[in-house]
Amino acid sequence: MTAKRLDGKVLAQLLRSEMAATVATRIAAGKRPPGLAAVLVGENPSSQTYVRNKRKSCDEIGIANWLHTLPADTSEQQLLYLIDRLNADPAVHGILVQLPLPKQIREDAVIHAVTPLKDVDCFHPENVGRLTAGHPRYYPCTPHGVVKLVTHNGIVWAGKHAVVVGRSNIVGKPLALMLMQKSTAANPAGCDATVTVAHTRTANLKDLCRSADILIAATGVPNCIRPDMVQPGAAVIDVGTSFVDGKLVGDVDPGVADVAGWLSPVPGGVGPMTIAMLLYNTLRAAELIDG
Ligand code: GUN
Repeated sequence: MTAKRLDGKVLAQLLRSEMAATVATRIAAGKRPPGLAAVLVGENPSSQTYVRNKRKSCDEIGIANWLHTLPADTSEQQLLYLIDRLNADPAVHGILVQLPLPKQIREDAVIHAVTPLKDVDCFHPENVGRLTAGHPRYYPCTPHGVVKLVTHNGIVWAGKHAVVVGRSNIVGKPLALMLMQKSTAANPAGCDATVTVAHTRTANLKDLCRSADILIAATGVPNCIRPDMVQPGAAVIDVGTSFVDGKLVGDVDPGVADVAGWLSPVPGGVGPMTIAMLLYNTLRAAELIDG
């Protein structure tokens, strides 16, 4: 079997053109353009690339954006001071502090400092709590991108066994929540799936993965999902982004394409969707803040 491609690049382009029209309508009605402030501390090359791509996508659809670059030796207090200014700035609807941060800065302190209405990453405990309780303000970008990519391709989540490999706060944990939740008017990205979360201490990972109708790999370990771990015909979503010899690779061994029914590529799968959902949240933030 050669898996069908879950093309995030094409879907993200479609979503961007829809959002560009919504932004243009808002501006024609005399509203401020939605605005995203990105904050980059230090010189991590991957973070620089991610932030550049996020800003390019903002430019494409008319979202105002600003980059605040701070040196690697910035203190936590200096970063919190900048976040306070952005919290108070009416032109800024979304604040994105690119992670990871240098070790002298506590990630938790920064996540707590972003005012929840401008928390377009959906990392603040208030927004995580709302998501958990089934009445989200925002959806976290990568999990939302995964849900949209699968749904758009006509794959049904409801009643399926979804196995999420990885339990990070950014992907595995919130994605598992969204997949298990009831789809309601207040929570339209709820998926009604039966969900298992696997992690580094999971016993018999191979058999567990083979029982998945939809397998989501979010481990950060290159090629750790091998062909014998996949049920023939299953949908496999690769959320991994590692660099091996300067090349971007996912968590899924290329041989999985011969077993799976559907496979999201790296690059060109979940990555572009994550950025599209960040734009979506920024637009939503503008609607919530400015009306
Ligand atoms: N670092 C890796 N992924 C993310 C993300 O989704 N948001 C932010 N702010 N930093 C990240």
